[in-house]
Amino acid sequence: MKFFLDTGNVEEVRRAAALGVLDGVTTNPSLLAKEGKPFREALVEMCGLVEVVNGEVVATDAEGMIAEGRELASIHPNIVVKIPMMPEGFKAIRVLRSEGIRINVTLVFSPAQALLVAKAGAYFVSPFLGRLDDIASDGMKLLGEIIEVYRQYSFETQVLAASLRHSMHVVEAAKLGADIATMPYKVFEQLFKHPLTDRGLEAFLQDWEKARAVLGDILAPEAVKSKK
Ligand code: E4P
Repeated sequence: MKFFLDTGNVEEVRRAAALGVLDGVTTNPSLLAKEGKPFREALVEMCGLVEVVNGEVVATDAEGMIAEGRELASIHPNIVVKIPMMPEGFKAIRVLRSEGIRINVTLVFSPAQALLVAKAGAYFVSPFLGRLDDIASDGMKLLGEIIEVYRQYSFETQVLAASLRHSMHVVEAAKLGADIATMPYKVFEQLFKHPLTDRGLEAFLQDWEKARAVLGDILAPEAVKSKK
């Protein structure tokens, strides 16, 4: 499973990329607007840190989406263009795909929409799981249905589980076989955490300190030398 960060913040991408387990980034207009940095600059910097950066069009007519999609794709070869799930978007996908531009169809909330996305040959489909949960619908059920349908036909479109709210969402999406999970930085951080890890490490270090006072530090270079 690939991990993407869902953010408009370049520093978060830098911090996560330094850990070696980050594969890409998803942005959206709301996330980039929050940061107050010129969009192009933020996207270019992100492209220098990870292999895939999703940038979204804001036009709602096919012509506008095509122009913005071309503009976004020209920023860097790592850019994937996000197009919202709507008929005008499909006209744009047809044109942009023929130019070799990779497309992520966003704001997907039903298996029927996901089926259309695969037929259109999009690179990614982005079902928004958390937003379904927010309205008391089952986001994970949608993800499972999309994966089931895609497997029937071996569609090449990759399933990108989006709008994830906590680490259990990531684990559940992995169990269902989602290709990618995109998550806010705080969820990415949660993946590393377990109280027993913290408690275990604290105990190891305390025991080590106590023993060191009596036995010396076996990892210190002088101790290693004197043993030779
Ligand atoms: C993904 O591409 C979207 O930017 C994102 O996952 C939306 O998440 P939200 O519902 O937390 O805004």
